[in-house]
Amino acid sequence: MGGGGGGGGTAIKGGFGSKGVFLTMMKSLVDKWFQPNVSRCWNVRELDAAARRRCHKYVYDYIAGGADDESALKNNRESFRRMYDAFPRVLNGVGPRNVCTKTRILGTVDVDIPFVPAPIAGNAMFHTDGERGVARTSHRFGTTYALSTLATTSCEEIDACLKEESRKTGKEDTTHKMFQMYVWNEGQLVDDALRKAKESGFETLVLTVDLTWFGNRERDKRNRFSIPPKLSDPRFIYECLKKPCWTIDAAIGWKNRTFEYAALRDDTKLMEKQRDDMAGFVRDVFNPTFDWEDAKALREKWGKKFILKGVHRADDAVKAFEYLNADAVWISNHGGRQLDGAVAPFDALPGIREAVGEDRELILDGGIRRGSDIALALALGANAVAIGKPIAFGLAAGGENGVERTFTILKEELERTMGLIGARTIAELRSKGKEIFVKRDQSRIT
Ligand SMILES: Cc1cc2nc3c(=O)[nH]c(=O)nc-3n(C[C@H](O)[C@H](O)[C@H](O)COP(=O)(O)O)c2cc1C
Repeated sequence: MGGGGGGGGTAIKGGFGSKGVFLTMMKSLVDKWFQPNVSRCWNVRELDAAARRRCHKYVYDYIAGGADDESALKNNRESFRRMYDAFPRVLNGVGPRNVCTKTRILGTVDVDIPFVPAPIAGNAMFHTDGERGVARTSHRFGTTYALSTLATTSCEEIDACLKEESRKTGKEDTTHKMFQMYVWNEGQLVDDALRKAKESGFETLVLTVDLTWFGNRERDKRNRFSIPPKLSDPRFIYECLKKPCWTIDAAIGWKNRTFEYAALRDDTKLMEKQRDDMAGFVRDVFNPTFDWEDAKALREKWGKKFILKGVHRADDAVKAFEYLNADAVWISNHGGRQLDGAVAPFDALPGIREAVGEDRELILDGGIRRGSDIALALALGANAVAIGKPIAFGLAAGGENGVERTFTILKEELERTMGLIGARTIAELRSKGKEIFVKRDQSRIT
């Protein structure tokens, strides 16, 4: 897979006079000493540890934290190992040359791998490669890209960066772009966002409905999380000194306005609101009374492919297909960042699949940390899965190279699992899946 490595170049370009040259020199020096070597991370857990080493605590906690007691966060991860064991047949002739991870999603979108990056807000805070680094990696791996409403890069910038990447790699830009929308109550903001997404070639709208209220993220409260950070906080400055790699990169990004939500750039009033207090901003700008009728109106206004994200229950999934005419339902509890104690998406999957039937498309995210988790989710009924924190950790650990490492690890692990259970293709994995992965039940172990 083509050598990743925006390496921060995009954001640094343009500089800012002699100060810029100085910071760029400092960056290469500091990176030499302190930048974690992501090529030595062998799994997502090690990328997580590398992100923690490189990043300011306020950023790491923002990525890694959950709501309340973080029990949903933990439960998401554990759900994959709790109930099912693989019962593989042996000698099934699947080798690295004939294993194939290609599949089709959303009816018409051909992808080379059955996983997609989940929308994640504020990427440029993690590393100045930001959303562009994730979009470019998605392009190289032949999968879709989903941009958050609260991204630090605009739709236009993502479109331009993918075109540029396509020119550089000589690989046609077929990346299917999804735009994720929250339930805003500012009508003009919604209309502007949808218009810009359409103009920039985004083809699918992902409406996230599990964040009508803001989750109680106590780590962020403790760290006084805001975008941009409050530089008057001495604890913030002290932590900057401990994380020179992140700090120099962030200082370069700061001047290039990376610490801003791109969708709010022109709205100084809203920018100030979110700067003061994130939870207060969500209270003011989000619409907690948004209901099915509002979702239908938005879906009709968009008029193209549509996914409902944040579904936990079978009856809601059925309604999303029947009432909203959704192209897919995205089973998710926001990575455990919203309602603590919410069912793990993996535990909800079999019931939802049974209720909606075989032909409807289900995407699932939450707690996937291994390629074997991807295989299990597909075997039990997901058409594709989405990856959140593992990609954010990759970015926070090593910019675009780190994202590339996350994709590589998960793809290799998935292929190895398919080989060991004898599934040559994703279709085979899905059809044979229930026979191979069985409920942990002593009576079956003979
Ligand atoms: C740092 C962070 C920011 C997120 N921002 C968004 C967002 O802007 N929009 C959204 O729909 N989901 C957002 N999510 C949720 C993810 O899209 C996804 O549902 C979740 O991360 C999946 O769980 P996982 O992290 O265990 O893979 C965010 C998650 C994280 C970790």
